[in-house]
Amino acid sequence: MQNKRSSVIHKTVRRVKSIFGFRTRYLQLESRNELLEKKVNELSKGLNRLRYRHERQTSKAHERIGVLTDLLGELMYPDNVNKQFDTAQDKVWSTHHGFRYVTHHLGEDWKLTRIPYWEVILDNVPECHSILEFGCNIGSNLKAINLINPNYDLSGIEINPFAVDQVRKLPFVKAEEGSIVNHDMGDKYDFVFSRGVLIHINREDLPVVFDNMVKHSRKYIMLFENYNDEDEALDGYGKLVTGGESGESYQFWANYPKLFKSQHPDWELISSGVRTEKGRTPVKGDLYWAIFKAPEEQPSE
Ligand SMILES: C[S@@+](CC[C@H](N)C(=O)[O-])C[C@H]1O[C@@H](n2cnc3c(N)ncnc32)[C@H](O)[C@@H]1O
Repeated sequence: MQNKRSSVIHKTVRRVKSIFGFRTRYLQLESRNELLEKKVNELSKGLNRLRYRHERQTSKAHERIGVLTDLLGELMYPDNVNKQFDTAQDKVWSTHHGFRYVTHHLGEDWKLTRIPYWEVILDNVPECHSILEFGCNIGSNLKAINLINPNYDLSGIEINPFAVDQVRKLPFVKAEEGSIVNHDMGDKYDFVFSRGVLIHINREDLPVVFDNMVKHSRKYIMLFENYNDEDEALDGYGKLVTGGESGESYQFWANYPKLFKSQHPDWELISSGVRTEKGRTPVKGDLYWAIFKAPEEQPSE
């Protein structure tokens, strides 16, 4: 009888283990069967210890990769690291924080993370052949677009030289190093967009960046940025940050479509959404996309 019961307990414990794996938190089970309760709670505590150790090791590994990336950046782009930048935001993106962002995102499963929303967005920009991304980093958006439709002519502007070197490895992208504040591609594109980039632009430069998007666009502009009703400055970039001046603000969540529209009222908002959900009203922090259509050209008299 005792044997049968203990084999049931072991079976149950194995099942709990297979269901929760290492992700389990400490399970506080209350059971009438004291032996079972004790076993499961011990197992749960053990798993929690393993999870904690695993997280600590992962965060140590991240720290070490960060330090190595800083060294690599200093060795590969010494002129860039020692350059004077116009704003503190330009400096962090052009140097260590930017290098770390690249190494972090080289491991991103971009097909999984990007294809779903690009399928929705591209449906909203008909008759479009050329696309320019402001702040393209290593080209994860451009890779997703190219996979959905390889006929687009794709370009990007990017401030970080390490990112530019990565994106230049993509044969279907023309990438130029420069700041979206003043870089001139010398051409116009059907569709110009930014994703997660305007949130990092110094507030004084934002109107200039809007003008630069307008200057480069023939048909559409999309802003795909973190939403907030009011402009809000957040300190820091989280764990990846290095090289910032203390007290600076490094992220600005805002109602970007509203700011753009007030500066360029003749551009018409034609669609918007939150990630894959077209038409959804954003709440604070949502990655909100809004597509504007260029005003019709007036026929010359
Ligand atoms: C959060 S990442 C987003 C990257 C990319 N748009 C994406 O969706 O994966 C911000 C990018 O903007 C770039 N960036 C920041 N300020 C810039 C500037 N003034 N000119 C050009 N690129 C800039 C950064 O180097 C970085 O690659």
